[in-house]
Amino acid sequence: MHDTLLLFGATGDLAQRYLFPSLLRLQEDGLLPEDFRIRALALSPHDTDKFRGILRERFAQPGPRVPDPAQVEAFLQRVDYRSVDMRDPESVAAAVRDLVSRRCVSYLSIPPGLYVSTCQGLALGGALEAPARLMLEKPIGHDLASAREINATIGRLIDEDRIFRIDHYLGKAAVQNLLALRFGNTLLEAVWNRNYIDSVHILVSESEGVDGRNAYYARSGALRDMVQSHILQLLCLVAMEPPSSLEADRIRDEKVKVLRALRPLGPADARRHSVRGRYGAGTINGAPVPAYAPPDDSDVETFVAVTAHIDNWRWAGVPFHLCTGKRMAERSTVVTVTLKPVTHWLFEHPDRDNAVPNRLIFRLQPQEDIELGLMSSLAGPEWGTLELHPLELELSSQTGQNRRIAYERLFLDALHGNHALFVRNDEVEAAWAWIDSVVNAWREGGVPLQTYPAGSWGPENASCFLPARFDARSQPAPCHGA
Ligand code: BG6
Repeated sequence: MHDTLLLFGATGDLAQRYLFPSLLRLQEDGLLPEDFRIRALALSPHDTDKFRGILRERFAQPGPRVPDPAQVEAFLQRVDYRSVDMRDPESVAAAVRDLVSRRCVSYLSIPPGLYVSTCQGLALGGALEAPARLMLEKPIGHDLASAREINATIGRLIDEDRIFRIDHYLGKAAVQNLLALRFGNTLLEAVWNRNYIDSVHILVSESEGVDGRNAYYARSGALRDMVQSHILQLLCLVAMEPPSSLEADRIRDEKVKVLRALRPLGPADARRHSVRGRYGAGTINGAPVPAYAPPDDSDVETFVAVTAHIDNWRWAGVPFHLCTGKRMAERSTVVTVTLKPVTHWLFEHPDRDNAVPNRLIFRLQPQEDIELGLMSSLAGPEWGTLELHPLELELSSQTGQNRRIAYERLFLDALHGNHALFVRNDEVEAAWAWIDSVVNAWREGGVPLQTYPAGSWGPENASCFLPARFDARSQPAPCHGA
């Protein structure tokens, strides 16, 4: 197991909110090696004492699991701090050279524009020599061209099998459970194709706003921030063929095939099958919140809905409605699989047109459960006609209470060298290729940016991209024949 973490971007929001707390929890659970060391690196001119003080304060903030003060102090002893200019490879090299005799993992939680110079510095300082590893946060680049350039340049400095590209959704237990449910049961696989499935909805709604991440978000927007990574990963897990084993590359091979089969969006499709929005002022949990105002005149979106098609044998003709947005009515990550109507309908109550199709709903966040929607006569009259009603079977395992947060799992896997939950170079590029087609189609098709009130379910004409029950305005509404 590797024993040294070089954490670039240590003063940033992600490191402070998630990375250090995850590492502390791994220590509390006895999962870090005895002599594990963390070098925190960032531009701020702190020294180690100052930085430990910042972390101490962070750990003292109220949260779901208050750490034991003795554990915090032991953890802080593992951490030291170096100020570094990541634009300058010499500065990076000088900040890590004394540790390269150890088994190092470098974690880049920094803007992708700094990846190349930081990696050049790591290479110069000897910190990418085998068996050293490299963890890269999303996004890898801004489009296909920049992602290719980053992958190619970094690929000349360190082998692909020592690079761990993060998509933290893959570290979530509920997301991994999609694979378990699909490939650990005969029941689902039997109907998992275009013959039985009518449509798939993948929704990731957030009630939080852009808050505090303006500089990054104004260049990114919901499509690049969420769809390129988390939503396409969810789509891959739903749509991929069964891998021949759980070996990392067998899983990743199958995901790449799905991404490469995504039909590029054209301008006419974009006008009919996608919506872009940006939140205006509104109300979240009863409190007023302001509109999103990007720092410049950028026309970046905070909401996107788009219908994707996977051009392969299994999924031909099945629309995948993808939808994500900030400042929406509630936080929720849900995959809804709607089955086709019954072939020959026998009943009068309801008639064929009013029968509710079978639905499998995988709720991944905030709670984890599965719901199976069936038609049944159990709630009907005891005598007389056979009257059918929708029956919702909730399957909740109640086992998720002490689940590890995603980054704990990802740290452990990277320290142990397991790639299964990390994204390969060709996977990132295939995802960007499709995203680029959407960006171009939006531009060429003149898809307008619409305003939606904070606390709503997005622009009005986006209802049809939402699974039933998520928008009372118009259910069910066809997505322009998608
Ligand atoms: C990040 C995005 O990758 O994921 C954020 O950059 C988003 O904009 C976050 O808020 C959502 O993650 P989670 O785990 O809260 O669903």
